[in-house]
Amino acid sequence: MAEHPAYPVGLRLSGRRVVVLGGGQVAQRRLPALIAAGADITLVSPQATPSVEAMADAGEITWVRRPYQDGDLGEAWYALIATSDPAANTAASAEAERHRVWCVRSDDADQATAWTPATGHSEGVTVAVLTTDARGRDPRHTAAIRDAVVEGLRDGTLVAPHHRTRTPGVALVGGGPGDPDLITVRGRRLLAAADVVIADRLGPRDLLAELPPHVEVIDAAKIPYGRYMAQEAINNALIEHAKQGKSVVRLKGGDPYVFGRGMEEVQALAEAGIPCTVVPGISSSISVPSAAGIPVTHRGVAHEFTVVSGHVAPDDERSLADWPSLAKLTGTLVVLMGVDKIGKIAETLVAHGKSPETPVALVQEGTTAAQRRVDATLATVAEVVRAEEVKPPAVIVIGEVVNVGPSAAP
Ligand SMILES: C[S@@+](CC[C@H](N)C(=O)[O-])C[C@H]1O[C@@H](n2cnc3c(N)ncnc32)[C@H](O)[C@@H]1O
Repeated sequence: MAEHPAYPVGLRLSGRRVVVLGGGQVAQRRLPALIAAGADITLVSPQATPSVEAMADAGEITWVRRPYQDGDLGEAWYALIATSDPAANTAASAEAERHRVWCVRSDDADQATAWTPATGHSEGVTVAVLTTDARGRDPRHTAAIRDAVVEGLRDGTLVAPHHRTRTPGVALVGGGPGDPDLITVRGRRLLAAADVVIADRLGPRDLLAELPPHVEVIDAAKIPYGRYMAQEAINNALIEHAKQGKSVVRLKGGDPYVFGRGMEEVQALAEAGIPCTVVPGISSSISVPSAAGIPVTHRGVAHEFTVVSGHVAPDDERSLADWPSLAKLTGTLVVLMGVDKIGKIAETLVAHGKSPETPVALVQEGTTAAQRRVDATLATVAEVVRAEEVKPPAVIVIGEVVNVGPSAAP
């Protein structure tokens, strides 16, 4: 049977009867894809793993609690034979052969009439990798090939032009805090397909170096803005490039909507009638503390965390933050853009009731090779920032969570 390679085919199982024999690990691994394919699944098995049982409880499969009996496969279109009883498996595959039901056997691929490929999904495509003959079967190798293809498509290192659905427009991509591995899969894929990338200073700058030479990379900070405000000039640049029919990625640090002016860009694009998609990103407000060993919440220590902008001092009339109220919170305060004003911020928090001994950590250039953490208290932070020359970008964490991790400073 194994002299010829298997013939690859995609079964459309929606509403069609599929019988699975055995409720162990093999069934547990295979059932989700069968459920996703819409198959009408009957599981025949005296026992099942808790996960398989949960699928039965959820009504995703019908579970017949007994061992295999002759006749179970009669009405099936497809069968998965995976009991722990070799004699039952052999009898079941003989029945499948009799009824011309394609069947997979977990214990003996050579005796099966069908093989399950290693599968993965990317961009609406299923990648399925089959071995050419059962004797040379190497499931790890097929899985590794599947992983290489799917990963490559996802992270953009394998570029397959997408003529049907590639539409010009702008993607507002949250690039994460800086480490190129911390952008989302979707963000990386869009970046790989871009004609123009308009990038901020913060975010995964290393990814820009990987872009092919035809991609135009524009530093948002260097867009000339003459009679416009800087933001308006960026909006105009996005609109102009998109109007030329190009795929434009606006790469932003962290998440586009966390102090990122993302919505202003979305609104400007909407007014200009330019299609825009927004890809969330990992915000520095959570990930930078985390990268420095600080959990923003911790059981018994902090039941809330508040992210606040420190770009204007608490006594500045432009400040929208209610610092006296923030001083009364018992959880964690995460301050972004606050290095310059931390002295005033600490003073205000203490004046409104926070203990001067409250721990503070400043994490500069988090998740990058230059990451550094400096610890202080509300009483000492202004001096420590000066003495240690802490510079933006930094995330400032205020609260007892600073001291809970094993990497907390002594
Ligand atoms: C204009 S805000 C943008 C925040 C971004 N949208 C986000 O969700 O992370 C910029 C501030 O984010 C913080 N920040 C961003 N990336 C950082 C990093 N890698 N390390 C430390 N702080 C960072 C700093 O407080 C910086 O001043």
